[in-house]
Amino acid sequence: MAPDATVAGRQGPVIRLDKIAPGTQQTVISENEPVFVRHLTPAQRDEAREQIAAENLYNPLARNANLSAGLLAHQDTRMVAGHAIVIVTGRCTRRGCVPILDSGDFDGWFCPCCAAHYDVLGRIRKGIAPRNLAIPRYRVLSDHQVRLLPHGAGPNRHKIDDLLFGPSDRG
Ligand code: FES
Repeated sequence: MAPDATVAGRQGPVIRLDKIAPGTQQTVISENEPVFVRHLTPAQRDEAREQIAAENLYNPLARNANLSAGLLAHQDTRMVAGHAIVIVTGRCTRRGCVPILDSGDFDGWFCPCCAAHYDVLGRIRKGIAPRNLAIPRYRVLSDHQVRLLPHGAGPNRHKIDDLLFGPSDRG
């Protein structure tokens, strides 16, 4: 995987949202982990809106480190406010492989290792991966700029997930 060139400052890389065309994804490395920044097309946004209710997901939680724990996983809690942008950690929640964009049964990401299918919001929809792709901490700097933040910059919601759901091995 070849990450796009993004300046990684001490506080984390800054992402120019307006430089990511609809239907494409920029991969950024933050704290040695790939982070996907994906600009959804209008059709993908409609798809996300019409898809399964969060209550019926394998993992109903938003897993968004920027929001309160316990919120459900839907468009408002999985996208950057005011943008057709989804930011997720690029690690399958089964064993940590890097999922492939625009693959799988739900037009999201697909992990060829464990056959996990994620939808366009990064929610696990099919396969044995236990959780939705995590949303890392970030700060909105302006209309078009977001800075990723270090994992340790605030409460680690994913550790709360670990307590609630156990280790990330549903199989
Ligand atoms: S993690 Fe290779 S496991 Fe989907």
